[in-house]
Amino acid sequence: MSTNTEEFKDGLAGVPAAKSQVSYVNGVEGVLEYRGIRIEELAEKSSFIETAYLLIWGKLPTPEELEEFETEIRYHRRIKFHIRDMMKCFPETGHPMDALQTSAAALGLFYSRRALDNPDYIRAAVVRLLAKIPTMVAAFHLIRKGNDPIQPNDELDYAANFLYMLTERKPTPLAAKIFDICLTLHAEHTMNASTFSARVTASTLTDPYAVVASAVGTLAGPLHGGANEEVLEMLESIGTVAQVRPYVDECIANKQKIMGFGHRVYRVKDPRAVILQNLAERLFETMGQDEYYAVAVELEKVVEERLGASKGIYANVDFYSGLLYRKLGIPRDLFTPIFAIARAAGWLAHWKEQLTVNKIYRPTQIYVGEHNLAYLPMEERAVARERPPSFSL
Ligand code: COA
Repeated sequence: MSTNTEEFKDGLAGVPAAKSQVSYVNGVEGVLEYRGIRIEELAEKSSFIETAYLLIWGKLPTPEELEEFETEIRYHRRIKFHIRDMMKCFPETGHPMDALQTSAAALGLFYSRRALDNPDYIRAAVVRLLAKIPTMVAAFHLIRKGNDPIQPNDELDYAANFLYMLTERKPTPLAAKIFDICLTLHAEHTMNASTFSARVTASTLTDPYAVVASAVGTLAGPLHGGANEEVLEMLESIGTVAQVRPYVDECIANKQKIMGFGHRVYRVKDPRAVILQNLAERLFETMGQDEYYAVAVELEKVVEERLGASKGIYANVDFYSGLLYRKLGIPRDLFTPIFAIARAAGWLAHWKEQLTVNKIYRPTQIYVGEHNLAYLPMEERAVARERPPSFSL
């Protein structure tokens, strides 16, 4: 076992953790491909469900395959009343990501035969998870507002049905199409933290519901999902176009990160941000301008001037998505669950790929603790610190 400390990289930065055919990023040229197809092309020509098929089965479906996949997903959108009733016991102040993680794991109680060598089991798990995650996100949202969840509408496609279940109104075709493209853009992004979690969990040959639940838990952290919520708060706090330059100056002087900018991989504008900005503009043209869009455009311009060429800091995927989701009537704390709805496709693709090449993940560590310490009898140990009077956090 190697203990060479020079091999150690904090956060495994840049260390390959899998060989994968699912997606590819070139951060210098701003390229993102799913199964070899550029994201721009998929955003323009595909749908989220077709893209999910592509990611998971590694090829574009024929018309019959796509129709069958869409029909199966439509058929499995409903959730068992046990799951719905379980959600009614969740605290309404709980975060929707925690609700989603719990409900995704709970699916495993109902469907966990773990027949991982049976293609029908794999297919059923993929269909159930893709079909039910949006229903569970929308159901928790209505339950926490004191309403009964509404049933999926079989006439609506995947994206339109989710917006309908969430807002209790049928979206316009444009709103549904734009939301569908947002899902496509977030469906996969190589070896990020939640995908790594999914692969590690998959490598133990546990059930796919546990794989998705562990990935949801990882995505929930503020360093992964959630920057788009902070972008909105930042734009609101900047307030006006005139305040943009002083804000950027202050951030640079205080070495403070500007939300929605910078990326571990991209050294140019994130290709997804380019598409999202166009979509936001299309949406604002028909649904009305967003009062902070001008602030956002100015901020992007100033950050590019100040940090673009010098540090390779440009707008990332989170910069325009929050403005767009807000216009679609989506509450802020559902932005990360929506990320999870989309990314489930990528997690499932990696789950399936992991099963074909599986070796359980078992990295090593560099022990930096002590050795050969004596076991001190209780009476010789220092007095324990005083306990706080109660657990208020
Ligand atoms: N605003 C201002 N400066 C930034 C910046 C930002 N958003 N992101 C990075 N930088 C600067 C850092 O201050 C650092 O400067 P230094 O070399 O003078 O110390 C340099 O760029 C490298 O930053 P670092 O944090 O090491 O880059 P990273 O690749 O580890 O971080 C992110 C990538 C995404 C974590 C980081 O850019 C960030 O926190 N962005 C804001 C949050 C966000 O939008 N997250 C969503 C990501 S999709």
